[in-house]
Amino acid sequence: MTFPVALLIVILLLLGTVLQTHQSPRESVPNTALQRINLDRRDEIKSAFNFAWNGYYTAAFPHDELKPLSNGPGESRNGWGATPVDALGTAILMELPDVVNVVLEHVKGIDFNDTGTDISVFESTIRYVGGLLSAYELLRGPFSHLNMDEGSVEVLLVKARELAEVLCAAFGEGNALPSGSLNPFTRIGNGENSLAGAGTLVLEWIKLSALTKDSKYANFTQKAEDFLLNPKPKSTEAFPGMVPIDLNITTGQFKPSDITWGGSSDSFYEYLLKMYIYDPKSFPQYKDRWIQAADSSIQYLASSPRGYPDLVFLGRYDEKAGMFVPQSGHMECFAGGNYILGGMVLGEQKYTDFGLKLVHSCHHTYISTTTHIGPETFSWIPSQCSLLPPPTSPPWLCNQPYSPTTLTSTNATGFYIIDPSYNLRPEVLESYYYAYRFTRDEKYRDWAWDAWVAINGTARVGNGYSYVRDVDKVDGGGWGDNMESYFFSETLKYLWLIFGGGSREGEGEEWQVSVGDGAVEKWVYNTEGHPLKVRK
Ligand SMILES: *[C@@H]1O[C@H](CO)[C@@H](O)[C@H](O)[C@H]1NC(C)=O
Ligand SMILES: *[C@@H]1O[C@H](CO)[C@@H](O)[C@H](O)[C@H]1NC(C)=O
Ligand SMILES: *[C@@H]1O[C@H](CO)[C@@H](O)[C@H](O)[C@H]1NC(C)=O
Ligand SMILES: *[C@@H]1O[C@H](CO)[C@@H](O)[C@H](O)[C@H]1NC(C)=O
Ligand SMILES: *[C@@H]1O[C@H](CO)[C@@H](O)[C@H](O)[C@H]1NC(C)=O
Repeated sequence: MTFPVALLIVILLLLGTVLQTHQSPRESVPNTALQRINLDRRDEIKSAFNFAWNGYYTAAFPHDELKPLSNGPGESRNGWGATPVDALGTAILMELPDVVNVVLEHVKGIDFNDTGTDISVFESTIRYVGGLLSAYELLRGPFSHLNMDEGSVEVLLVKARELAEVLCAAFGEGNALPSGSLNPFTRIGNGENSLAGAGTLVLEWIKLSALTKDSKYANFTQKAEDFLLNPKPKSTEAFPGMVPIDLNITTGQFKPSDITWGGSSDSFYEYLLKMYIYDPKSFPQYKDRWIQAADSSIQYLASSPRGYPDLVFLGRYDEKAGMFVPQSGHMECFAGGNYILGGMVLGEQKYTDFGLKLVHSCHHTYISTTTHIGPETFSWIPSQCSLLPPPTSPPWLCNQPYSPTTLTSTNATGFYIIDPSYNLRPEVLESYYYAYRFTRDEKYRDWAWDAWVAINGTARVGNGYSYVRDVDKVDGGGWGDNMESYFFSETLKYLWLIFGGGSREGEGEEWQVSVGDGAVEKWVYNTEGHPLKVRK
């Protein structure tokens, strides 16, 4: 045997051993080609993140956001650097140590006392407090191998607390409901708030209390939440578990307004479920309330367009007019994912079924437009309108003087567009993510990819991504001049997560939403897409 032949045999033997040790049962599932496709997609999302981050960094760091058209900075979130803080968690998940380092350095220098514009308690909580605490837990937990400077990681918690100290002023004295915003100079609250404004603080502030061992923050927000869980007068609970958007924070009473899963209301319902996931022992009453609201919404707010029984949207109830309004939009599309999560955690198929139906309907709004991006708001002719006698009292808004264009559109697609813009929103992708995690059906990853190709093709401009004016025009009808910070924390993160879930590692990554029925979550996502560890 000549030497090279012997070497060849040794190599072949070694190769055989290597191949054999990789023959684990998991790896032999015939999904490797699919996995490769999805990992390639995941890499594309990482490139998009780098592209948008570099665009921001070059022209707008450390301001709140990039204005991609004018290629300059925007300052919509008090000038504390909303984009770096919102992008931090995604950069950690993507393992981009250079970006993480830049943001940690930035955070050290933030002065939350320094601002010249009104301070929104809700936005500051979900973006800044949520972003800081999430990064803190990720870097001390599953991403400790990134080996960031320990002192810089501790600063994340210190800064979250400093901001919460500023926001505490919103709660006033002897008054449990917080104002929605604070005057930057006097630190006096504006005396008003919405359901979501007061009811989307508990998760972040309770986490802050757990990490700082100071119960003050939890107490403030839980007292506020009690008003929302036990509404007065009782009559403002128009349907079991559901209350209107507008609050009088002085009296603690609700004011007649809209009952909806849309803006200013949405994340109140979202957090009822997520608090239960965060700690089922402490928050069973939040879960009961979510179940009531979820059931009421299926019974009262759900509506199919006339002639489209397979579609279902959540309309809203206008208390002042005493009727249901067939209007919904991109923001409401998070509800599909929230119902699926609820069904998974509670083991209740009626919620996953309904959630999947909502997801399919939101997908329908995407594929029905020229750009294949869904509109901000839309309407439809409710199937309830063609039933005699009407099945519900109060009635749905029917017999509008519909224009011919509206009728053509509703005949062709089941809905018509009211606001055709797209503001880089995540909700539809977020719901695809939950649908995929529950069903493991590749279809949802394909939908997410199609949506991304459409968003990338339409919203990408200059050195970033921007607000699009009209999703139903070939070129998107031009751009606004803004790249919202949540594009980094939510839109790109849910895309990253959905395409990462198929890798062998991805099956078990603890920050991924659990798979299938009876899910046991290890992390729960705040409404800005920041994962927080559940209570042990
Ligand atoms: C912010 O201002 C308050 C009131 O002046 C002060 O007590 C607090 O220490 C300041 N916080 C920081 C981080 O400078
Ligand atoms: C928070 O509430 C708990 C229970 O009522 C109480 O024991 C605790 O002292 C409160 N914490 C603060 C800082 O007031
Ligand atoms: C809240 O209720 C109080 C007491 O009835 C009233 O004086 C105040 O004007 C109300 N505030 C708002 C914003 O409606
Ligand atoms: C829409 O459909 C209805 C019912 O089928 C029909 O009467 C109407 O002519 C259609 N309108 C348009 C504009 O296509
Ligand atoms: C996104 O857009 C860029 C610039 O047009 C292009 O190079 C890239 O291939 C696009 N990515 C996807 C996934 O469509």
